[in-house]
Amino acid sequence: MKVVKDKGVEGKVMVITGAAGVLCSSLTEDMLAHGAKVAVLDLKIDVAEEFVKKLQKKGYKDVIAVEANVLDRDSLEAARKVVLKRFRKIDVLINGAGGNHPKGTCKAEQITKDTPLEDTFFGMDQSGFEFVNKLNFIGTLLPCQVFCKDMLKKGGAVLNFSSMAAMCCQPMTKVPAYAAAKAGISNWTAWLAAHLAPMGIRVNALAPGFFITNQNRFLLLEKDEKTLTARGNKVINKTPMRKFGEPSDLHGAARFLLSDEASFITGVVLPVDGGFSSFSGV
Ligand SMILES: NC(=O)c1ccc[n+]([C@@H]2O[C@H](COP(=O)([O-])OP(=O)(O)OC[C@H]3O[C@@H](n4cnc5c(N)ncnc54)[C@H](O)[C@@H]3O)[C@@H](O)[C@H]2O)c1
Repeated sequence: MKVVKDKGVEGKVMVITGAAGVLCSSLTEDMLAHGAKVAVLDLKIDVAEEFVKKLQKKGYKDVIAVEANVLDRDSLEAARKVVLKRFRKIDVLINGAGGNHPKGTCKAEQITKDTPLEDTFFGMDQSGFEFVNKLNFIGTLLPCQVFCKDMLKKGGAVLNFSSMAAMCCQPMTKVPAYAAAKAGISNWTAWLAAHLAPMGIRVNALAPGFFITNQNRFLLLEKDEKTLTARGNKVINKTPMRKFGEPSDLHGAARFLLSDEASFITGVVLPVDGGFSSFSGV
C-alpha cells in the first residue's frame, strides 16, 4: 500500500460566491490559512474589497475581490475571466450566495380559525417565493455552469449550501420559500454529482444548522439581539448540543469535502447542526 500524505486544500484555486457574507467570509479566511487561493465573489463589491484588504493586511496574498451577480450569466463569465487571469485555473467552487427574505416567510406556524389570513400561507407574497427560489437555486445553478467548465480537464469539487430548513420529511415552519429552495439544492447536488462524476468533478453540500446571521437574526433574537425569541428557544431545545453554531464550525467539514481525502465522496449533503437533524425533540 502506498501512503500519500494529503495536502488538504493547499494550492487549490477556489471561487467562493457570497464570500463577503457571514459564513463564507469565515470559510474564505480558513481556506487561505490552509494554503488555498481564493476569489471572493460578491454582489457587494465594496464589502468584498474591504474584506480582501483586511485579509491582505494579515499577510494573505492569494486572494482577490471580484464583483459578480450569481443571477447574471454575463457577470459570472466576466468574473471567470478575472479569476483565470490571476490564478490560471479553477479547482473548487463554493456556492455561498443565498439566503432568505422576510417576504418569503409566513408569520403563523399553523393556521387556526382565529389566525388572520394575511399571517398565513394565504397572505404570502408571490414575489417572496420568486426572490428566494431564484437567489438560492438559480444562484447555484449558473455558477456551476460557468465555473465547472474549467474543471472538465483536471477534475474539481463543488460545495453547495443546503440547510436544516430543507429536510424533505421535516421542512421548517415559517420559511416555506427558503425550505423549498434549499430542498432543491439538496436534490440538485445529488443530480449534478451523478452527472459530473465521470469527469472527476465531485459535488457535495453542507446543511448548516442554526448560525445567527443576517438572514435569521429577526426570527431567532428579539430586538435587543440577546434574548431568544420563542422560535430561538425552540431551536435550542431541538439542538442536542444546546447552542447555535459558530461560522468556524463549518471549516473542517468544508475543507474535508473539498480535499482529496474525500475523493470517493460525491452527492452527499452533510449536516453541520449540533445534532438538530438526528433529534426528534421528544
Ligand atoms: N445563517 C444560517 O444559519 C444558515 C443556515 C443554513 C444555510 N445557510 C446558507 O449559507 C449561505 C451563506 O449564508 P450567510 O448567512 O453567510 O449569508 P449572508 O447573507 O451573510 O451572505 C450572503 C452573501 O451573498 C451575497 N449575495 C447576495 N445576493 C447575491 C447575488 N445575487 N450575487 C452574488 N452575491 C450575492 C451577499 O452580498 C452576501 O455577502 C447561504 O446560502 C445561506 O442560505 C445559512
